[in-house]
Amino acid sequence: MVFQAPAAYVRLTPVCGIAGYAGPKNAAEVVYDQLKRLEYRGYDSAGVAFQTPTGLGLLKRAGRLNALRSLMDEEKPEASTAIAHSRWATHGAPTDRNAHPHYDQSGRIALLHNGIIENYLELKEELIRRGHTFQSETDTEVAAHVLGEEYRDGRILEQAMQAAIKRLRGAFAFVAISTEEPGRLVAARSASPLVAGLGEGENMVASDIPALLPYTRRVVILENDRIVSLTRDEFRVTDFNGHPKEYEETLIDWDVEAAEKGGYEHFMIKEIHEQPDVIHRCLAGRIGDDLRVKIEGAFSDSVWQEIDRVNIIACGTAFHAGLMGKRFFEDLLRLPTDCFYSSEFRYSDPLLSPRSLAIFISQSGETADSLAALRLCQRNRIRTLGIVNVVGSSIARECDRVIYTQAGPEISVASTKAYTAQTIVLMLLALHIARVREMPGVDLNRMAEELRLMGDRAQTVLELDDDISALAKSLIDTKLVFFLGRNADASVGLEGALKLKEIAYIATQECPAGEMKHGPLALIEPGVLAVFGSTDPRVREKVVSNIKEVQARGGTILAITTDDDSSLDGVAEHVLKIPATRSVHLNAILSAIPMQMLAYHMARHLGCEIDQPRNLAKSVTVE
Ligand code: AGP
Repeated sequence: MVFQAPAAYVRLTPVCGIAGYAGPKNAAEVVYDQLKRLEYRGYDSAGVAFQTPTGLGLLKRAGRLNALRSLMDEEKPEASTAIAHSRWATHGAPTDRNAHPHYDQSGRIALLHNGIIENYLELKEELIRRGHTFQSETDTEVAAHVLGEEYRDGRILEQAMQAAIKRLRGAFAFVAISTEEPGRLVAARSASPLVAGLGEGENMVASDIPALLPYTRRVVILENDRIVSLTRDEFRVTDFNGHPKEYEETLIDWDVEAAEKGGYEHFMIKEIHEQPDVIHRCLAGRIGDDLRVKIEGAFSDSVWQEIDRVNIIACGTAFHAGLMGKRFFEDLLRLPTDCFYSSEFRYSDPLLSPRSLAIFISQSGETADSLAALRLCQRNRIRTLGIVNVVGSSIARECDRVIYTQAGPEISVASTKAYTAQTIVLMLLALHIARVREMPGVDLNRMAEELRLMGDRAQTVLELDDDISALAKSLIDTKLVFFLGRNADASVGLEGALKLKEIAYIATQECPAGEMKHGPLALIEPGVLAVFGSTDPRVREKVVSNIKEVQARGGTILAITTDDDSSLDGVAEHVLKIPATRSVHLNAILSAIPMQMLAYHMARHLGCEIDQPRNLAKSVTVE
């Protein structure tokens, strides 16, 4: 069977927690309760702003929601309108000051935000020149000050939001209240999702549906580039130019647990489907309009010139991402790169040249083996760079520099979106270094253009989901699965194998396809499935030969190739086709997604416990 994904459409999923309420209840308590219902997605600080008869009140705390609860118990805010936010730090560490909401310069407006404002630094410099002062390191506070500047000349808050949005670049969902318009919330979204709830004498907004369900099941899923202005008994939607827009009201019949997963059955499949958004967020602000790749928070250009070796150190899925990083650095930069399991590295006597760089990849930033390996490098005075998802985590804090993957909280033990984000960051880093080193033969603009398309291409791959589910169902009696490929496909195969092992508890054998005849081929017999990654046209003929070796011994083939290749049609029993890019490295990154989906659906059809598989933990903080 040959499955070719139809045209892509965008499916959006939220990251932090947003809540806003206008109505007869105590709004501060309502929005706090709404944040509680969004707690499952992870966060590191939270805050609430509310309108009082004397102006605005603002309470916020780093840490878990109970820290904010204690503050609210002390202050006992009473309000008919309030907004609240649980933050997953992207710009600035998780501290009280960096928590949302944020005031504008005048203190008339409180604003909260999900997303990334790409041009916040240049805006902040302009505002400071005009006398603005800032309390936090966040891009959100800059947006609040821009909104405050536009809230003038008799404009209502909704008009000020329209004007402010024209000055901001990036992904956002905003909610704001002001002292001048009691009882009113104004919200806007572009890329970062926002939903609204329509009640009886009360209206509300949130970043995700679970926050609304205790109050109303009448939900409006806001489209991109929309502004909402609401009070307890008024609800208006316009575009960014103030033109009224129709909106669709949906009656949600999910139970709360289903709602937390965004309607998905498990966090793992939800996180697999978040990958287009994650890629967009991961690239945001890192590829300029001129296609120049620039990674903030990395080392200075002179350091990138000097480094003579890279050691990548990680565990599990992060190690598999590191193998891709090795290929990127060696193929594009001709920079010698080794990849080590942290648990091996920390007890070895590694060759650490003074001009080497140690890169630690970790989703959680708390993996004990990786942290120990990091400290070994620091004792040897080796430069360290973290590629980490959790802001402010131990590895992020202890590395000399850190690049955040912006994947948002990853709940399922089996890592999926973090892997993709790690490989994208590694490619961005390789291109950043290639630019600094003026590497001949690296077409930086072409690679940047290809990277920019990765989010949409990932969305296209996700449209194979139903087909892969049906295929997985037909394969659930398989007892042994080979993962084979050449070049980068061999590295991705390790990750595909880990996914299947982790959640479907199916034995796997993974190796470069050319290595099979040196031993593993002995395991091939009828009933064995071989998943071949074949996205590199340079070695595809060799892969076809390997496929025939397996078939000659009774094995069944599932091949993953690009949609410009027909060489496997009629050869492999099952062929999955993904969008071809102009980079064999990016082809390989995309090919991990169907492997993630195959593992998920086989596990689901087998009735496995998917998000919390046996014997495993999300973060291995012990040896
Ligand atoms: C991957 O699916 C596993 N959950 C596991 O291998 C994980 O990648 C490994 O423990 C490393 O975790 P880290 O990225 O948080 O350091």
